[in-house]
Amino acid sequence: MDGDEISDSKKKRLSLEVREMEIDDIPKVFHLGEKLFTAREVPNLYRTWDEYEVVNFFQADPEFCLVAEDADGEEEGILGFALGTTITKTRSAWKYGHLVWLGVDPAAHGQGVASKLFNRFRDLMLEDGVRMLLVDSEADNLPALHFFRKMGFGNPQEHIYLTLNVDPQLRQFREKKGNGKSSSRYKLHEGDDE
Ligand SMILES: CC(C)(COP(=O)(O)OP(=O)(O)OC[C@H]1O[C@@H](n2cnc3c(N)ncnc32)[C@H](O)[C@@H]1OP(=O)(O)O)[C@@H](O)C(=O)NCCC(=O)NCCS
Repeated sequence: MDGDEISDSKKKRLSLEVREMEIDDIPKVFHLGEKLFTAREVPNLYRTWDEYEVVNFFQADPEFCLVAEDADGEEEGILGFALGTTITKTRSAWKYGHLVWLGVDPAAHGQGVASKLFNRFRDLMLEDGVRMLLVDSEADNLPALHFFRKMGFGNPQEHIYLTLNVDPQLRQFREKKGNGKSSSRYKLHEGDDE
């Protein structure tokens, strides 16, 4: 009961504004993402959070990069962000919208920030003719899974990531390459002597 009151009063205090990301938001988004995505070891195995990730999305699909902030300006900086893109496949009439990164400042969790970002993202996708939305998450990221279910996502598909440690081969490869280099250098010296 107390918890509800606290979160209700927080909800009232935050008047949220979601807008398109601007160039000055790049470092803010990057640093907030660093807080969220590097604490969890591998949030997303095929992508890593770094400054290129933010810049690439901003460059490729600026209209699908959103930030949320406190409209009253009481909370400094940004409260959250959403970065996504659209995917079309050859010989398919379907256009997919992929929400790749969604993050909210831990201090603002549970106050509807992600919901507002997602609703805007979904509207942009609809305007762009998208027929299906995709998201992905680690299987143990329960807040994200609850959130996406609440937003209407279903039909989870299992993906298994396999790894192969090629370190021994890498060492062999380097040794070979190293030998190759020294022999060619040797030949060069030989040639020099001639
Ligand atoms: C997942 C995340 C984006 C949710 O942001 P948020 O602003 O706190 O979410 P909202 O306040 O809009 O929550 C909407 C609904 O999602 C669900 N939800 C959100 N956080 C939850 C949690 N920790 N546990 C259970 N359900 C949760 C609830 O159903 C909630 O509705 P309610 O408030 O009526 O109960 C946020 O926890 C986050 O940034 N996590 C780290 C980054 C991440 O994992 N991103 C997703 C993959 S890229």
